[in-house]
Amino acid sequence: METVLSGIRSTGNLHLGNYFGAIKNFIKMQHQHRCYFFIADYHSLTTHPTPEDLHQNVRQVLVEYLAAGIDPEVATLYIQSDVPEVAELYLLLNMNAYMGELERCTTFKDKARKQTDNINAGLLTYPVLMAADILIHRATKVPVGKDQEQHLEMARTFGKRFNRMYNTEYFPEPYAFNFGVELIKIPGLDGSTKMGKSEGEGNAVFLADDPKTIRKKIMRAVTDSGPTEMNQPKAQAIENIFNIMKVVSSDDTVSYFEDQYNSCQIRYGDLKKQLAEDVIVFTTPLREKILEISADDVYLSKVARMGAEKARESAAKTVKEVREVIGFKPF
Ligand code: TRP
Repeated sequence: METVLSGIRSTGNLHLGNYFGAIKNFIKMQHQHRCYFFIADYHSLTTHPTPEDLHQNVRQVLVEYLAAGIDPEVATLYIQSDVPEVAELYLLLNMNAYMGELERCTTFKDKARKQTDNINAGLLTYPVLMAADILIHRATKVPVGKDQEQHLEMARTFGKRFNRMYNTEYFPEPYAFNFGVELIKIPGLDGSTKMGKSEGEGNAVFLADDPKTIRKKIMRAVTDSGPTEMNQPKAQAIENIFNIMKVVSSDDTVSYFEDQYNSCQIRYGDLKKQLAEDVIVFTTPLREKILEISADDVYLSKVARMGAEKARESAAKTVKEVREVIGFKPF
């Protein structure tokens, strides 16, 4: 059994893209591996959230992952800042992370370009904190998207550098893990190929959206003026609607609308109405679960406490051993 670890951004509600792209797999994986899932709230401080926003965001993410099916009795689900050992390992790893490699990191360069008024050291050392997250449980499998691969490579570099420096094999090498399946990519409602929060209002359907909001968003989804020839290839925006339909609707529904499209009889209004209703059928139990869990402070605090306890046990062991390797000794 291998150790799998994934960090979850602490901002933003979950949308269908997150659900089908990653969470569905987390839920399966939790029964096959030793899984650590944590909410990366230390990382979120690089953008200076207010104390209220920080807490609310973490809470909402916790609620939604639980509602989606992460079982806190099976996986270790925790909040990063509940495990201060992470901060200590981060400090130690910082000593062997070089300015040059941190400055060359693509995500740092992007951020530095975008938030010119707040290029803080936390942004620069973001990959070190991420390496600490992974190495603290000596995880070998890290389910991440393409945008995180460079960070993961840096985590391997820092782990290997530590091993070389102290002549040990303490840290195993963590690799990206995609469950051995092609990840399902859910497109956006705005004609773009990716559903995402940052792509603008109306592009994403959130698991917590109520039926009215879902209908409104889907009815406004981008389409074209319709096919004029039989079996005409679909424009991206139309392809997108069909692709979302493929994950929430029945095969019969999909082929009905495919036929309508191919014979130029399709009415996009009908297509979208059907999609909206099928999305609602899919998300309603999730939304109800979100509301139920969100109202249960006692449960949430129990989950957080249990997660912190399990995560700290593993983290404290690593930090203790790392301190010994480095040469810290009690007097
Ligand atoms: N950087 C990741 C993201 O933006 C989140 C993250 C933080 C993470 N620490 C991690 C992911 C450790 C995997 C492992 O999505």
